[in-house]
Amino acid sequence: MTLREEILSLKNERKAILLAHNYCPDDVQEIADFTGDSLQLSIQAAKTKAPVIVFCGVRFMAETAKILSPDSIVLHPVPDAGCPMAEMVNAERIRAFRQSHPDHMLVAYVNTTAETKAEVDICCTSANAERIVASIPADRPILFLPDRNLGANISQKLNRPMELWPGFCPIHDRITVEDVKAAKAAHPHARFLCHPECRPEIVALADEALSTGGMIARICNAEESEFIIGTESGILHRLSIDAAGKKLYPLAPPPVCPDMKKLSLEAIRDSLRSNTPEIKLSADIIEKARKPIERMLAL
Ligand code: 13P
Ligand code: SF4
Repeated sequence: MTLREEILSLKNERKAILLAHNYCPDDVQEIADFTGDSLQLSIQAAKTKAPVIVFCGVRFMAETAKILSPDSIVLHPVPDAGCPMAEMVNAERIRAFRQSHPDHMLVAYVNTTAETKAEVDICCTSANAERIVASIPADRPILFLPDRNLGANISQKLNRPMELWPGFCPIHDRITVEDVKAAKAAHPHARFLCHPECRPEIVALADEALSTGGMIARICNAEESEFIIGTESGILHRLSIDAAGKKLYPLAPPPVCPDMKKLSLEAIRDSLRSNTPEIKLSADIIEKARKPIERMLAL
């Protein structure tokens, strides 16, 4: 039996659903029941009836699946696949901020741990951050955490001042103006799409800043045929299938998230065989962290 066949047979036996983020390695995306961005994966996790969710992505995404589907077993095949940005803030520091700024609305990017989510008012993803911030009354001060780039980009677009937590995605933050100018010079007819985790000066050079799911939809439905892709290179796999006719140019050097690349077919097989490692969260954290996510999903 091939590794792929073994996974499919175990998945069937356990009645498991396999969710994978758009940045996962190609073979992991290919075996998944559903691939998507963080918002799309949260929605899938919230509506699944599957007793087992195998979550291929970084830890905060698997935790979000557990929070939204607490009765399912959520397997995270590579427990050390984390998001460095999610570790740049913690519950204790948020509680301290809340005490000294009781009037602030706390908006947390979904790239946060369950413990951090348990302390905030509302969550957002890169797909809905603009809508979430715009829904908050204009006279209410906001702390946006932990991504200073996403926060600054939304703040600028909505002309809405916000306090920004000094976190960032090391992969997107490292993209430079020079990288973008070189790609534009090499492909003068291409539209440049970037992720809103990029620094504001990169977003200023972009035709549009979109979530990974938004970027895929935009390119698949585009009349234009050439795009420079300003995000993690895993997205190119899905695009090479769903937007096969388009010319897609990654930046040089291509941005790679090493944590997303830790997911593998071997790890998925082992996880399904042993029903571990499982995401475990206390009932208290699940209850508290669920509220800001549900507020987000309701909007
Ligand atoms: P998306 O929600 O756009 O998939 O982004 C998640 C992420 O971690 C980007 O670095
Ligand atoms: Fe975290 Fe950046 Fe990797 Fe996304 S690309 S999971 S934000 S480190």
